[in-house]
Amino acid sequence: MAQKRWLILLVFMWLFTFSCGRELKVKHQHHPHVYNHTLATILVEYASAVYMSDLTELFTWTCSRCDGLTKGFEIIELIVDVQHCLQAFVGVAKDLDAVVIAFRGTQEHSIQNWIEDLFWKQLDLNYPGMSDAMVHHGFYSAYHNTTIRPGILNAVERAKDIYGDLKIVVTGHSMGGAMAAFCGLDLTVNLGAQDVQVMTFGQPRIGNAAFASYYIQLVPNTIRVTNEHDIVPHLPPYYSYFPQKTYHHFPREVWLYNVGLGSLVYKVEKICDSSGEDPTCSRSVTGNSVSDHLFYFGVKLGCDAWRSCGIVMDPRVAEYGKTDLQGNFVLSRIPATPILKLKTESDAADKRM
Ligand SMILES: *[C@@H]1O[C@H](CO)[C@@H](O)[C@H](O)[C@H]1NC(C)=O
Ligand SMILES: *[C@@H]1O[C@H](CO)[C@@H](O)[C@H](O)[C@H]1NC(C)=O
Repeated sequence: MAQKRWLILLVFMWLFTFSCGRELKVKHQHHPHVYNHTLATILVEYASAVYMSDLTELFTWTCSRCDGLTKGFEIIELIVDVQHCLQAFVGVAKDLDAVVIAFRGTQEHSIQNWIEDLFWKQLDLNYPGMSDAMVHHGFYSAYHNTTIRPGILNAVERAKDIYGDLKIVVTGHSMGGAMAAFCGLDLTVNLGAQDVQVMTFGQPRIGNAAFASYYIQLVPNTIRVTNEHDIVPHLPPYYSYFPQKTYHHFPREVWLYNVGLGSLVYKVEKICDSSGEDPTCSRSVTGNSVSDHLFYFGVKLGCDAWRSCGIVMDPRVAEYGKTDLQGNFVLSRIPATPILKLKTESDAADKRM
């Protein structure tokens, strides 16, 4: 009897050591663009905040989700495309030494309907300038053919004028993740930006294998976080028996999941292979959960109320805005206290005292 127990214990210890060994191996891999957990927990908060519909609170970074790890963020531009129900912001995170760009996901009446539609999205656009690269026209134009892109590019230029060459970090959840990827690629290819980093959460597939391979060569510093059984990363579907016609994710996926039972549950963040379609990551489970889509790292991603694209704004903030004929608008400002100025002013103050 005792022998049997020892055997069981040994097996457990072996399993434990084995799994630890694997973890360590993953972590010690010297990959130039390795996944950074801390950064992920910060960026998920930006991806969450961009869903807020009170533009005054968002613009002044005082919203209920504008706290915690994103405290002190300065918005440079808040872009609302009312016509297409899109929202994004650009600002400066001094603690990250970066310009952060975040895109909101869809704000349809029902997330279920939006997800159902994802099954039928076609690869219906040749990505300009990349032979054989096909993408979904709808995702592409949400970024490229709305007021979002000019707003972003303008803000990135202004940030550069004020702060010099900061690195650029682009994030977004769900369809906002799709837009973040197109934006990262655009900034790299068309603006010649160096050192663009993209991290998306629960992003759908956006293009075919040829697109994925161009994408990852151009924006190698990309992480695509997926969560448990989140349905959206499984869509539009991947057909392994139809390689020329199928959607194909770009790498590098990091899959969040739990192992264990009852009170012994461990959270695992698995860094997946470089194929983009690692069969041992989120593809190893069925994508059947909407709730796994709406919470990443315990942070809510989505609106407080799924409703029409209503916006709430204080008239005092509206003064910063510009509206076009379609009602789309941009709120922008020069950040009141650029880093350099702030430093010299306080230095001067110190000297005076
Ligand atoms: C991960 O990101 C955080 C926040 O940007 C940073 O402080 C930290 O140095 C990074 N860690 C590594 C190992 O790069
Ligand atoms: C861009 O959008 C306009 C209307 O919003 C449409 O007429 C045009 O065909 C679109 N162009 C592309 C390339 O999608």
